[in-house]
Amino acid sequence: MTMKKNILCIGAGYVGGPTMAMIAHKCPKYKITVVDINPQRIAEWNSDTLPIYEPGLDELVLATRGKNLFFSADIAAGIRDNDIIFVSVNTPTKTFGAGAGMAADLQFWEATARQILQYSQSSKIVIEKSTLPVKTALTMEQILNSAHNGIFFDVLSNPEFMAEGTAIQDLENPDRILIGSRETERGLTARQVLVDIYTHWIPPEKIVTSNIWSSELSKLVANAFLAQRISSINAISALCEKAEANIGEVARAVGMDSRIGAKFLNASVGFGGSCFKKDILNLVYLCRSYGLDEVADYWEGVVKINEYQQNRFTMTMLKAMFNTLAAKKICLLGFAFKANTGDTRESPALFIARRLLEEKAEVVISDPKALQNATIDLKDVRGSIRYVEDPYEATAGCHAIAVMTEWDLYRNLDFKRIYRTMSQPAFIFDGRNILDHRRLFDIGFNVYPIGKPPLTHF
Ligand code: UDX
Ligand code: ADP
Repeated sequence: MTMKKNILCIGAGYVGGPTMAMIAHKCPKYKITVVDINPQRIAEWNSDTLPIYEPGLDELVLATRGKNLFFSADIAAGIRDNDIIFVSVNTPTKTFGAGAGMAADLQFWEATARQILQYSQSSKIVIEKSTLPVKTALTMEQILNSAHNGIFFDVLSNPEFMAEGTAIQDLENPDRILIGSRETERGLTARQVLVDIYTHWIPPEKIVTSNIWSSELSKLVANAFLAQRISSINAISALCEKAEANIGEVARAVGMDSRIGAKFLNASVGFGGSCFKKDILNLVYLCRSYGLDEVADYWEGVVKINEYQQNRFTMTMLKAMFNTLAAKKICLLGFAFKANTGDTRESPALFIARRLLEEKAEVVISDPKALQNATIDLKDVRGSIRYVEDPYEATAGCHAIAVMTEWDLYRNLDFKRIYRTMSQPAFIFDGRNILDHRRLFDIGFNVYPIGKPPLTHF
């Protein structure tokens, strides 16, 4: 069967893999190829055990792989044979040189641009999927169109708004699809090609087009706003603990104002994930580089409050447990940065585990999906760490439990049974406010929620 369109995606990660699986599923007449410099990654995408866990992803890949979805390590052939190229390589925070710890590291991005230029034999549409600083498309255009060989590249920005754990749902039914392009005749024609792909399943009113810089910036700003809501509610949680208010009640009352809205107001031990911190720091760096220090300081506050919240959580544990954690066994229930994912990038649990180990506590880590990543994350850390998937086994003999991830499984544990196996007095620090605190207190636990006065037996 000849395919109507041939699409390539460079970068088979969290963004590229699921996005392309959805396009393949929704556009059976398009052939989609996903390539990566990491051949192991490609082998995993071609195996029974996909390299990432996402509800619904296995089914989607199984239904399309080998039909119109292909994973390949041959980047050169991929570039040569496809005229529409999505780029979803990683853009981590720079760890060296100017902007270290803040700016986006664009080396993978630029390497990709040069590969595209090297192997292209015809004009192509190149689509930025990775999250990038505003004006990156300009660099891409400059590199790609530097050869003056009659081949022309149109660069589009099409940021991804999917969240981990709900990626497939978000891809299937997004709030909006954003497509930015140059507003020249060529640019608008290229933009239409991408619009045509999405109209296979997205209602036209949800496809928003804009100039290319607005599109790049909107992605950073959307993530900054979401993270800001969490830092705002977390900041107020500290006040609630002092003022005997209840953060759940405050969030409910505030969120019922339709101008504010109820979502993303769950106070927690802090936000994690690969995007929020990275994107805000990127925004901060961008503002500073334009001389907008007040704007930069404002957004940097969101990250500072997040660090404050994580540190505050550890200090609450320390103070509650008689100012020493040395040789105390503490079980972290959950290690993923949120429920329904095995991803541990920037997980607050990572920070808390490190801090507890510094205090010479013995840490037991439990998680239904993230233990493998946890082991890798903590491999260089000294101290006593055990990894135990079963929550009953993990908590047995511990002095305290700290809930780090809002897995449903933890809501329904038999806490009476757990209480009996723990060292007394037993403590629970609920970093996600998912447990029934009054009930736990009645069982005998000393309970420390976020943003509510603790319930203690002392
Ligand atoms: C985020 C954005 O939501 C998504 O649109 C973007 O494309 C990528 O970044 P993700 O990082 O997968 O997605 O997770 P998200 O669901 O946004 O949660 C981020 C963090 O905030 C998690 O650690 C989560 O536990 C925390 N969070 C979220 C809270 O602490 N409270 C809330 O009310 C909501
Ligand atoms: P994201 O969350 O943005 O999808 P990931 O780290 O999960 O990020 O995935 C990015 C993928 O891009 C990785 O699998 C990495 O090997 C791949 N990659 C990085 N640079 C290149 C490149 N020059 N060519 C092809 N693939 C690349």
